[in-house]
Amino acid sequence: MIIYEHMQMNDCERAAELESVIFGRDAWSAEDFRESLCCDYAVYVVARDTDTDKLVACAGVRNMCGDGDITNVLVDVGYREHGIAEHLLRYLIEEGKAIGVNNFTLEARKSNAPAISLYEKLGFVSEGIRPGFYDNPKEDAIIFWKRGDKDV
Ligand SMILES: CC(C)(COP(=O)(O)OP(=O)(O)OC[C@H]1O[C@@H](n2cnc3c(N)ncnc32)[C@H](O)[C@@H]1OP(=O)(O)O)[C@@H](O)C(=O)NCCC(=O)NCCS
Repeated sequence: MIIYEHMQMNDCERAAELESVIFGRDAWSAEDFRESLCCDYAVYVVARDTDTDKLVACAGVRNMCGDGDITNVLVDVGYREHGIAEHLLRYLIEEGKAIGVNNFTLEARKSNAPAISLYEKLGFVSEGIRPGFYDNPKEDAIIFWKRGDKDV
């Protein structure tokens, strides 16, 4: 069974391991996650497989005066296309609202069709392009926003 809950300090190593496999050189370290968990204006959530007690997905949001910047959205390769990211982001958005986030934003690589489709399904709307935002390889970012009470 997959459960969804807040990230704990002892999840940071595993979250960083997943980041490293998925994002390579741009991955967050365990220390990056630990520092973020100490911020009272941020929420990090995980999906856990209770059969193995393994963290299989994570995501986080930082509240900047009511605007929530979502980062670190990832699902372990073997657990994809089972609705885990969708469920986790819906949970993250609810938890973000609880710390005062009204509007949510995130970026995706222009070529990242699964992520773009996921965000659009959740009601995020493309509001612009950040040219050359990503490195390794260099690529434009699409900037998405989900504003106010637009529930999907
Ligand atoms: C993007 C990612 C998080 C999706 O996770 P997931 O758990 O497989 O997604 P879900 O199963 O919850 O899918 C929800 C929706 O996302 C979209 N989606 C997911 N995988 C997709 C794929 N391979 N192709 C197209 N759309 C896809 C669909 O709209 C899907 O809805 P549907 O099932 O009704 O078609 C996952 O592929 C991932 O970790 N990718 C690598 C890291 C990454 O790119 N993160 C985003 C950085 S911006």
